[in-house]
Amino acid sequence: MKKFWAILSLAVLFACVQEKPMREQFRPAYHFTPPSGWMNDPNGMFFYAGEYHLFYQHYPDTTVWGPMHWGHAVSEDMLHWEHLPIALYPDSLGYIFSGSAVVDSNNTSGFGSKENPPIVAVFTYHNMDGEKAGRIDFQTQGIAYSLDKGRTWTKYDQNPVLLNPGIKDFRDPKVSWNEVAKQWVMTLAVKDHIEFYGSPDLKQWTKLSEFGLTLGAHGGVWECPDLFPLQDAEGKTHWVLLVSINPGGPQGGSATQYFVGDFDGKNFTSQDSVTRWIDYGADNYAGVTWSDVPAQDGRRLFMGWMSNWQYAQVVPTKSWRSAMTLPRELSLWQSPNGLILHSKPIRKIVDLFGDGGCFKEPSTFEGSAMIFFDVPEEQVIAFSLSNAKGEKVIISLQNGVFSVDRTQSGITDFHNAFPAVHGVPMGNIKVNSVGIYVDASSLEIFINGGEIVMTELVFPSEPYTTGTLEKPATKFCISLIPPMVSAKP
Ligand code: FRU
Repeated sequence: MKKFWAILSLAVLFACVQEKPMREQFRPAYHFTPPSGWMNDPNGMFFYAGEYHLFYQHYPDTTVWGPMHWGHAVSEDMLHWEHLPIALYPDSLGYIFSGSAVVDSNNTSGFGSKENPPIVAVFTYHNMDGEKAGRIDFQTQGIAYSLDKGRTWTKYDQNPVLLNPGIKDFRDPKVSWNEVAKQWVMTLAVKDHIEFYGSPDLKQWTKLSEFGLTLGAHGGVWECPDLFPLQDAEGKTHWVLLVSINPGGPQGGSATQYFVGDFDGKNFTSQDSVTRWIDYGADNYAGVTWSDVPAQDGRRLFMGWMSNWQYAQVVPTKSWRSAMTLPRELSLWQSPNGLILHSKPIRKIVDLFGDGGCFKEPSTFEGSAMIFFDVPEEQVIAFSLSNAKGEKVIISLQNGVFSVDRTQSGITDFHNAFPAVHGVPMGNIKVNSVGIYVDASSLEIFINGGEIVMTELVFPSEPYTTGTLEKPATKFCISLIPPMVSAKP
C-alpha cells in the first residue's frame, strides 16, 4: 500500500511539473528569446504569406558576441514564435551583420518570378581578416534570396553588391521600395551620419544623399537605421528616420533616436534640430520595423533588442543572452514639441491577459503581468514591485521627473553601469496613465499609452510578487499573463 501511495504522489508531482512549462531563471514568458546562445539586433523583419519573420544577430556557440549568423523565427501574431534553422552563416566574405529583407514582388532582382517573388535579404559583411590586418574597408553590403517563404537562403554569387568607400563604420542596410523614385532605397549607417543609396534591382547601388552630420545626438557611432512613411492623426504623410547610437543614449550607452521630416525619394529633411528618443529607458536598442505589412493592415510595427551594449554580454542569464522588446505599433502625434512618435504594444497582447483585479492595498501576483494605473493632477507617483527577499524596483514621478530606480532590483553587481536610477524630465507632458509590462527580467513602461516609453532590464533573484502603489492614493489594476513560453523549442 505504501508503495502505491509513493507511486501516486510521484505521478501527481510529475503531472504538476508537466503542467507548467519549465522556464529557466530570467527567461521571459511573452518576449522573444533565442533558444540558446547569444542574440543582439533584430534583423530582416518582413511579413509574407501570413507569417511575421524575425531574424536576429546570433552567435549560437556561446552566450557572448562572436561570429555573427542570422538566427530565424516565424510567428502569426508576433507573440508566439516558432524557431527555425539559422538562415545565414558567416562565409569567406565575413560575418553576417545587421540588415533587412524585402519581398521583391515584381522580381526586379530576377532571382525568382512574379508568381513566386523572391525575398531578398540585404546585410553587412564584416570581414574579420580585413579588420585584423588594420584595413578600414572591411564592411561591405551583400544580398541573399529565398524562394521558399524564407525557409532556405542562397547568397548572391556576385557579392558584395556595395563596396566600402574607405570608411570603417559602413553598415546595417535597411531597404524599402520607394514609390516616388520608383526604385529601392537603402538607408545605411555610416559612422556619424546616414547615407541613402538607390537601386533598380537590389544589386547595383548608387549614392543618393547624406543626412545628419550636424543634426541629432552624436555621442557615439550611428547604427541600424530605418526610414518609413507614417501618417499623422490628420492623415498627412511624414517620413520617420530611426537611428540607433552607441554610446550616447539618454541613460548612457545604447539608445535609438528618431527624426520626423520629409523624404523626396532622394533627400531626407528633418522638421527641426531637436533630439528625440524612441525609448527613454536603458534597454531598447537597434530596433527597426517590419517590411511588407499589407497596406490594408496599415500598422508600422517595431521591435528592438532589449539590452544595452554597456552590459549586454555580462547579464546573469545562463544558456542564452538577450530578449527582444514587445512588438510595438508606432504612430505620429502633433504636440507642442512638434511631431512625436508614440509606441504601444500591439493590441493582440490583450488576448494574453487574464483579469487579476484592481487594488488599493499592496497586492501579490505570480508570474508575468501588466499593471496599470491612472495619475491625477498632483503628478506624484510612488510604485514598487518587490519580492520576499526585499528586492525592489521603484517607479516614481516627482518634481516633474519620471524615474525607474533599479539600484535594489536584485542582481545588479555584474556591471557598474547597471544599478542606476534612470530619469526622464517630463517637461510640458502631463502624466495621465502608466502601464507596466512585467516579464521575468524586464519592465516596459508606457506613459500615456506610449507618449513616453521606458524599457528597463531587472534581474530579481526571485520573481517580483508584490505591487505597491503608495502614491497616488488610488487603485492599480493587474492583468495576469499565463506562463506561456513565447517560442516553441
Ligand atoms: C548594433 C550592431 C550593428 C552591427 C551588429 C553586429 O548593435 O553593432 O551595427 O551590424 O550590431 O552584431
